[in-house]
Amino acid sequence: MKSSLFVISGAALAFVAIVHAQSGRSYGPSRVWWESGQGGILPWEEDYDDPEGIVGILNERGAVHTDEHPFFQALGTNKRACITCHQPANAMSLSAAVIAKRWEETEGKDPLFAAIDGSNCPSLPQDARESHSLLLERGLFRIALPWPPKDVRPDFKIEVVQDPTGCNTSREFGLKSAKPAISVFRRPRLAANLKYLTSEGVGEAHGIRLMADGREPSLRSQAITAVLGHEQATAPPTAEQLRQIVAFERQIFVAQSADMRGGLLTENDGPSILGPNNVSQGKNGVLFEKVSYAGWQGPGRLQDGLQKDFRDSVVRGGDVFFRRPFSLEGRAGATCATCHNQNSGTAWMNIGTTNQASADLPLFRVTCDSGKVILTQDPGRGLISGKCADVGSIVLQQFRGLAARAPYFSNGSAKTLRQVIDYYDERYKIGYTEAEKADLANFLKVL
Ligand code: HEC
Ligand code: HEC
Repeated sequence: MKSSLFVISGAALAFVAIVHAQSGRSYGPSRVWWESGQGGILPWEEDYDDPEGIVGILNERGAVHTDEHPFFQALGTNKRACITCHQPANAMSLSAAVIAKRWEETEGKDPLFAAIDGSNCPSLPQDARESHSLLLERGLFRIALPWPPKDVRPDFKIEVVQDPTGCNTSREFGLKSAKPAISVFRRPRLAANLKYLTSEGVGEAHGIRLMADGREPSLRSQAITAVLGHEQATAPPTAEQLRQIVAFERQIFVAQSADMRGGLLTENDGPSILGPNNVSQGKNGVLFEKVSYAGWQGPGRLQDGLQKDFRDSVVRGGDVFFRRPFSLEGRAGATCATCHNQNSGTAWMNIGTTNQASADLPLFRVTCDSGKVILTQDPGRGLISGKCADVGSIVLQQFRGLAARAPYFSNGSAKTLRQVIDYYDERYKIGYTEAEKADLANFLKVL
């Protein structure tokens, strides 16, 4: 027993040593959890272990001095900064595993768990672990949105059917409070690779929109809301602070950079879009476009069996993603890429993820003027547009660094990439074979 344990940990260490030797480094990152206001330098390039291998970040404009930097410094009253919820080690998002670890390390005292949106509802006893269960178990923050939206006449009514957090029926925070609001619970999205989603200057969004409901028109407006909301500031950030935040977000890139089985993903003659460096240099569309894996199949490469098997599986997984057809609501010949493609023209869609009722999430009954009734735990885009047709629609996320930031979907309902694939397989009756599912998961893991 003892000796077999030794063998396993020995193998794991050997892997780490190999990857570090291949990348020309003998050291790991100096820190994993980045605290607001800790100061110091975020290097030009940095690698972090994740459950599948290594995720890498790259700052295109060089190392970032964080001491006075508004992305890294708390600008409000609760000691949080942007970095609190957008951690380099988690692909500039936050994994539920890291959140739970942070709770243990700080006995729930980290600013991450601030009552405002790091708990199920600010009115709950904040010392109790259960009051933060949605954040700890699903990685979800509370997003409170005014209802009805400003200057919009909605074409549906909304009622609270189930309210496990108490926040939607609360006299202080709920739908019938002095400032009527709907609380939904969502995953943080990547504050990276944003050069491809936004324009220069204020960072106006194009193609894929910002936030699960597309409510922020630009990185600038998003940062103002984040400082006043998540950071509970009493005044908006200055023009100079906003400029620095937007400039930082548009020059930081993340992607998986090594895989436990596939080895380095950043070799010079490897696939041209893997790894943070390739992402930073890529053209528009790099977040979803077909990947060429030609470099992996070339001659003269030393590959042991495991590495070659894994890389072949990734190549096949790419084919499943881009080519394996299934029928999408009656239309034959769809693939994953039908929707996950920057030029698909639609930023938000309802794929049923928000219609799954769950005992720990709120549930709303939406009654449209047409008479249609929808049950949903997050009306998504409908909360912004006020349109029945948008109820339950969520803005597609970018796919980078997936291995470093489980769980998935805006409501964190898929714990693993395999669960994401099973969700689609069931919903669209795709009929993937076990081999296709494994290949598809491997493809997603190396992005
Ligand atoms: C308490 C955690 C928290 C803090 C602090 C925080 N964010 Fe976020 N961030 C989130 C969540 C949750 C979302 C998704 C919200 C939604 O979809 O409605 C998000 C979304 C974003 C997005 C959208 C990305 C996309 O592709 O849609 C950007 C950009 C972003 N945050 C930047 C920032 C900046 C800049 C700051 C600091 C000013 C900041 N965040 C502070 C939790 C946080
Ligand atoms: C009909 C359009 C559509 C199709 C087809 C589709 N997706 Fe999605 N996908 C979406 C939307 C919309 C979301 C956001 C849903 C949410 O977060 O609730 C999403 C989210 C995801 C996510 C979560 C990303 C994250 O950051 O949490 C993954 C992974 C994913 N899809 C993979 C796939 C795979 C693999 C396939 C093929 C089996 C596929 N998708 C097919 C529309 C689609």
